[in-house]
Amino acid sequence: MKVPMLDLTPQNNALLPELRQAFERVFTSSQFILGPEVRKFEELCAAYAGVKHAIGVSSGTDAILLALMALGIQAGDEVICPSFTFFATAGCVARVGAKPVFADSCPYCFSLDVEDVRKRITSRTKAIVPVHLFGQMAPMDPLMELAEAHGLHVIEDAAQAFGASYRGRAAGSIGICGTVSFFPSKNLGGFGDSGLLITNDDALAAKAQLLRTHGAEQKYFHKTVGANFRIDALQAAMLGVKIGHLEAYSTRRMENAAYYSSRLAAATGIAEGSRQQCCTGHYCQPEPGTRLLLPLQRMENKHIWNQYTLRITGGKRDAFREYLQAHDIGTEIYYPRPMHLQECFQIAGYTQPTLPECERLAAECVSLPVYPDLTRSQQDHVINTILDWKDR
Ligand SMILES: Cc1ncc(COP(=O)(O)O)c(C=O)c1O
Repeated sequence: MKVPMLDLTPQNNALLPELRQAFERVFTSSQFILGPEVRKFEELCAAYAGVKHAIGVSSGTDAILLALMALGIQAGDEVICPSFTFFATAGCVARVGAKPVFADSCPYCFSLDVEDVRKRITSRTKAIVPVHLFGQMAPMDPLMELAEAHGLHVIEDAAQAFGASYRGRAAGSIGICGTVSFFPSKNLGGFGDSGLLITNDDALAAKAQLLRTHGAEQKYFHKTVGANFRIDALQAAMLGVKIGHLEAYSTRRMENAAYYSSRLAAATGIAEGSRQQCCTGHYCQPEPGTRLLLPLQRMENKHIWNQYTLRITGGKRDAFREYLQAHDIGTEIYYPRPMHLQECFQIAGYTQPTLPECERLAAECVSLPVYPDLTRSQQDHVINTILDWKDR
């Protein structure tokens, strides 16, 4: 039985008539840039996240860039972000001329380690960008407390977590703003690139709107230097169809994750990460004999499982992945190299000392298929194959 890492075809096929209608609406209107379809989608997003403003943009990356620009982050500033994440977060910080300062991550929930963040704050620090990795929010209360004590902005990178929540508060709604990606593999996956900036801050929203259209309120009259960060009207119209199904998509992912965890946790050599140590900054190695660690969902979170990510200990991750591949099971490594070890940051002014947990995660993590249309028999095939893994 074949189990791809991701299959979007059933999800999108099921919506084809509605998607066609959305396409035809935009096609017939000839309003391809901004306009009512974009406004309507932004209203749906704002209502979904429970925020005042939602601004559709060209990608999740551009949403981060726009947030940094709107907050005036610039050369000479430092921004603390995780090292174990996708490149966009740190890349955008570098693109505005600021320095990404990398902090370590919790090896159980994969979130930015607040205690490590604390150690990295200097007089140049302007912001913290926690990433709600794999669909689970970072520990926002301690992060906000720390940020407030030092007068720092918090930009939530919610690229993978649109619909997740922390103590009942939506991803992206707690910091000064949040950024979202609609890259096709996300829980709300578009038909190409696009993203969103969400905020409750009126001034920030106004600045972001201005920067999204080259800093011009009135065409050809530029108040400030911005860029073209606009979402396409076609993309907004199609996503407007899919957002109505987002809760159902995330629920299916949650069910799939729960099924993996319940069946795998019963096996010997497989354990959940340590709840006692989670996010404490003090981590021990898993108990001897534990070969596979399951992802930990913290109690205060609604985790929407954009990824279901295991840790394979003992240097066996690549062998495990090859074994699954030989059984027609797709997997992915999110992420094989932490940011502080990327070639582009091995230059004067950017280099940083070791971050042991991030480095371990990059060596041990592997993500399993968890997409909404995964069938129970496909999941059973994945689970049984894992349970039969002899090279443990
Ligand atoms: C954590 C994180 N931040 C930012 C991005 C960037 O989003 P996009 O691919 O839409 O530019 C992604 C996308 O994969 C991501 O996973």
